[in-house]
Amino acid sequence: MMSISIDRVALPIVNSETVLPEEELVALGPLIAEIEELKRQKNAIVLAHNYMTPDIFHTVADIQGDSLGLARAAAETDADVIVFAGVHFMAETAKITCPEKTVLIPDPDAGCSLAESITAADVRLLRERYPDVPVVCYVNTSAAVKAEVDICCTSSNAVEIVESLDSDRVIFLPDQHLGRWVASQTDKEIILWEGSCMVHEQFTGEELREYRTMHPGVQIIAHPECPQDVLAEADYVGSTAGMIDWVTDERPKTVVMVTECSMSDNVAAEVSGVDFVRPCNLCPHMKKITLEKIKMALETVGQDTRYQVEIPAEIAERARRSVDRMLAVKGRN
Ligand code: 13P
Ligand code: SF4
Repeated sequence: MMSISIDRVALPIVNSETVLPEEELVALGPLIAEIEELKRQKNAIVLAHNYMTPDIFHTVADIQGDSLGLARAAAETDADVIVFAGVHFMAETAKITCPEKTVLIPDPDAGCSLAESITAADVRLLRERYPDVPVVCYVNTSAAVKAEVDICCTSSNAVEIVESLDSDRVIFLPDQHLGRWVASQTDKEIILWEGSCMVHEQFTGEELREYRTMHPGVQIIAHPECPQDVLAEADYVGSTAGMIDWVTDERPKTVVMVTECSMSDNVAAEVSGVDFVRPCNLCPHMKKITLEKIKMALETVGQDTRYQVEIPAEIAERARRSVDRMLAVKGRN
């Protein structure tokens, strides 16, 4: 496993004045202008996940958000081409919701440790073992896995989705930590899969207690992909969009966002008066996406199929049912 280091002694602090300095924007200007022109020529939009670096998130991105927000945005856009600045399962979800559009992923190797932890065959085996138990899958899964389950969820709506099912027992996959978090919020019995996120599982409760000692009064907010001892120490638990809303509404003096570290940079650039203590756990998959690759994917659309997301029709059709069922459930939707 890739090692992710946390400098416990001198964590950097970022705020609205230190993210994306003017000189960096000026240097990136020509590349950004080329991408904007390509977007115009191809009737394309760029959807960017909250974990993209600020040079993408605050420049060429047309819509930013969490997995759920971006899935909805993909379903609603009039653009012919969607460039997904995120990881492969997110681009696949966009293709599932709008099969008639061209969906591009600027680096086809941008995967996810959760999506890689389970296959469609694993889900079929689980169904044999628990024949009457509905299966919920986190969107951080392949289209082939989504095709085997009853309904999808994201970290924004996982509790509502589980609650919406007419069963006292629910299989929840693949993230064991999100599954445990959901179990703590519902009376239903949750059967877990042992997948985990290679970024969020690096955090520990002990580390969070150290942040409180080092920064008295700090507010700590965490993504539910973190282990249980981390979530127990947090002042708020929520999806990436939930965490952004929390900081925007609460305006804490100092905050730690216990999640992928580009998100602190992105929020810091927009929310003034808040200091973000930033342990830098990077998602190596998300970090594969760069401005240069976005440009390349747009330039070669229609010629180089490497960037194009395709899903066999039969899988896409069944996966769409699981995604559509999720989108129909009321909640943070
Ligand atoms: P969100 O749905 O909260 O954006 O999370 C997606 C993800 O991959 C978190 O690691
Ligand atoms: Fe997957 Fe974790 Fe990266 Fe999110 S942060 S894309 S869950 S590996």
